[in-house]
Amino acid sequence: MNTSTGTDWESLYQKNETHWDKGEASPGLVDFLREESLDSTGQVLVPGCGMGHDARAWANAGFVTLGLDISPTAISRAQALVTVEATLNFRQGDFLNDVEHQGYDWLFEHTLFCAIQPELRGAYVKAAARCVRRGGNFLAVHYLIPDEDGPPFGTTREEVCERFANDFELLRDWIPRSYPNRTGLERMFYWRKK
Ligand SMILES: C[S@@+](CC[C@H](N)C(=O)[O-])C[C@H]1O[C@@H](n2cnc3c(N)ncnc32)[C@H](O)[C@@H]1O
Repeated sequence: MNTSTGTDWESLYQKNETHWDKGEASPGLVDFLREESLDSTGQVLVPGCGMGHDARAWANAGFVTLGLDISPTAISRAQALVTVEATLNFRQGDFLNDVEHQGYDWLFEHTLFCAIQPELRGAYVKAAARCVRRGGNFLAVHYLIPDEDGPPFGTTREEVCERFANDFELLRDWIPRSYPNRTGLERMFYWRKK
């Protein structure tokens, strides 16, 4: 059991019960990286990276990227798919408790916030605020579904805005292009650390 989340993610990976994994990066992230003129000198943290598709997209865009996941099997599968070794690393760890580096330029969220137990969302916000440097960026793809029995656990735009607004300034939020079965259910949030 991965105790901080209440879900045995490692066992799900070992049994290949990984229905959330689409084998490719989030379409919203792909579009964002293509459309924005970003300075790729920054360091990126992708917590809850799973098999690393989003982390690979950041590294392919030129960023030094760390993918972190609580499941050792997810991490070894992500490592096996690495093609840009110079700028991409993966490590096993708990985002809520194990991130020592506090100067990330970018934090990228994709279905981790909705995967943890809702009572841990306060700890998630603290971890996010700790690891991004002042003036750094937090880009999130949130899954806005009503479900109370999760994971995934539901959330709303209002909850997301309320929880992160103390530590981050919202630059913009929008409905992104999504995987076919999530169309209209995702919302991206682009925040700057205060
Ligand atoms: C729904 S999956 C999403 C994976 C990936 N972001 C994707 O969209 O394909 C949630 C991921 O978060 C990981 N996870 C859950 N709790 C975590 C924690 N406290 N710290 C780091 N990773 C965690 C799980 O092992 C799983 O890979």
